[in-house]
Amino acid sequence: MIVLGIETSCDETATAICKDGEILSSITSTQQIHKEYGGVVPEIASREHDKLLNKMVFDTLNEAKISLSNLEGIAVTQGPGLMGTLLSGVCFAKGLSQGLNIPIIGINHLEAHIYANFLSEPNLKFPFICLLVSGGHTQLWFVENLGKYLMLGETRDDAAGEAFDKGARILGLKYPGGPEIEKMAEKGNQYAINFPRPLMKQKNFEFSFSGLKTSLLYCINENKIKNTSDIAASYQFAIIEVLSTKLKWAVEEMDCHTCVIAGGVAANKLLRSYLKDLLPNHNVIFPKMSLCTDNAAMIAYLGEIYFNNHHVSEIDFQVFPNMRLA
Ligand code: KG4
Ligand code: ZN
Repeated sequence: MIVLGIETSCDETATAICKDGEILSSITSTQQIHKEYGGVVPEIASREHDKLLNKMVFDTLNEAKISLSNLEGIAVTQGPGLMGTLLSGVCFAKGLSQGLNIPIIGINHLEAHIYANFLSEPNLKFPFICLLVSGGHTQLWFVENLGKYLMLGETRDDAAGEAFDKGARILGLKYPGGPEIEKMAEKGNQYAINFPRPLMKQKNFEFSFSGLKTSLLYCINENKIKNTSDIAASYQFAIIEVLSTKLKWAVEEMDCHTCVIAGGVAANKLLRSYLKDLLPNHNVIFPKMSLCTDNAAMIAYLGEIYFNNHHVSEIDFQVFPNMRLA
């Protein structure tokens, strides 16, 4: 089956073609306009999607050497995300589905992040534990099968990606903050400052990152540590150590040998190396770098799976900015 995927949940406009489980083309355009505002401006993001989508769909088709009439289904992000940007993608997708008279399916963006791991590891088998770490979510899941997800725990306040983004802003770095802090941390000493590791006393699966950025703010205001690389490295280490330790507890508690990481923070190199060392006897899977942050390959791929399982959406389906996984 040939499926077009469309992703517009935030500031990435993305299109992809998936055929029989294989990605033939995938294009992502990250809107640069938000950099000057230090975060995503929803109204601007929606208008950028509207401007880009038509051309990007044709570019993706050309790259895949597929014509519009070959498409057999459309998968589009239904939520979670920004109301306006989700509507841009869904309205475009609905129009195309009606025009071509092919089925459409609304996809949960979080679920698609998890399924990006099957694209890097086709032999991945259920069940597995998933650490879902993006700009808006930090959650631990027990993934039993397609559509069968048990939440083990989540953040009480900020998400891990948000901690990177807010921390970067405090350090005077650009948005998105994760890659910026990672770069600045490269030459730093991660043991220079002992930032707090919240909720680590009890063996639960909850996270809290909002206090961490306050500690960073105090650290900057006190001006005792002058080396910003040391500050960035210590801040990054605090986030990564908490995420990794809780994931380790989860795989042990659930007695599960395989775990996957999903979402933008999965691109973090320290998280990758730290987890490999922490769980040497486990199967630790990360998506390909290009599939960690928002993309349409994961949307098209999961869409095809759902179509093959006889799921389709009604044409009047709504977007859900706060859509949850289970
Ligand atoms: O999954 P994603 O692209 O969008 C959401 O669904 O939220 O994740 C974006 C988040 C941002 O907070 C960004 O700072 C973070 O992922 N991120 C990283 C890295 N690359 C992106 N965080 C840490 N290290 C990175 N290399
Ligand atoms: Zn995402």
